Amino acid sequence: MKPRHFLSLFDLTPVELQQVLRRAGQLKAMRRRGESYAPFPQKVLGMIFEKASTRTRVSFEAGMAQLGGSAIFLAPRDTQLGRGEPVEDTARVLSSMVDIVMIRTFEHAKLERFAACSTVPVINGLTDYNHPCQLLADLQTLIEHCGELRGRTVAWIGDGNNMCNSYLKAAMQCDFLVRIAVPPGYEPDPGLLQQAADRVVLLRDPLAAAQGADVVTTDVWSSMGKEKEQARRTRDFTGYEVNAAIMAQAKPNAIFLHCLPAHRGEEVSAEVIDGPQSRVWDQAENRLHTQKALMEFLLLEGQLPLF
Ligand code: CP
Ligand code: NVA
Repeated sequence: MKPRHFLSLFDLTPVELQQVLRRAGQLKAMRRRGESYAPFPQKVLGMIFEKASTRTRVSFEAGMAQLGGSAIFLAPRDTQLGRGEPVEDTARVLSSMVDIVMIRTFEHAKLERFAACSTVPVINGLTDYNHPCQLLADLQTLIEHCGELRGRTVAWIGDGNNMCNSYLKAAMQCDFLVRIAVPPGYEPDPGLLQQAADRVVLLRDPLAAAQGADVVTTDVWSSMGKEKEQARRTRDFTGYEVNAAIMAQAKPNAIFLHCLPAHRGEEVSAEVIDGPQSRVWDQAENRLHTQKALMEFLLLEGQLPLF
């Protein structure tokens, strides 16, 4: 039987997504109470990182340890992947030794090629196309703040990047609206824009996008791999900083989210990210709880225990 993978939010049905998010809430409460829950002794997570990471690495490694298993960190410079071993061969070998794999890489197609040859579940830890694990954490944070996701409005300000693409998928899965403000030439994936047509409004003006929003969110202007474009991007994104003027357009109780790492004075002002509406630290912590729920879901083949 083919294993279940999590390469995109669409790899879960809307009902399964809600189950994973509910389970993440339970795991968070259990951890807060100091309850140990370690159902996976002997299970091993393999983690391939072709890009830098703080949150993704630590949350997966700590999460697997808390579930009773262990994790192996693999960087291309220390493995044969970095010396040209085909991704398909790596997938076959790795999946004969570990129980679940997480990959952070550049081209989404490379992740898909790995998953096609893996006999164990593969999790997307970020590609140039999307970042579905981050969305699990964002959705948990939204639920903590707003309760019901259906009918809410998220304002996305800045680059139509991997995170923006994932918000479009989340909007389709959870039935909320995304109002996007991006400069010309920085739109999200055109196929996704079309698919999410009834869940997305594409604008240029960040003030207009933020109007009446429940959540305002942004991300770096130069994602990993785009560093060479930084000077041009800094020019093109002038006026797209999420600051107090933009937050003032949103609902009075709106929250601010950012997947981090953040650049104060570029895509977000210090007064917003360090201010009372910011929930970025809860959002980062929720990476741990949601990914534990996700790994549990995949290792138990969709049979989540719900207490
Ligand atoms: N948000 C996020 O994925 O952070 P890292 O790059 O630190 O993993
Ligand atoms: N869009 C950013 C997200 C980092 C977590 C990047 O791809 O670098």
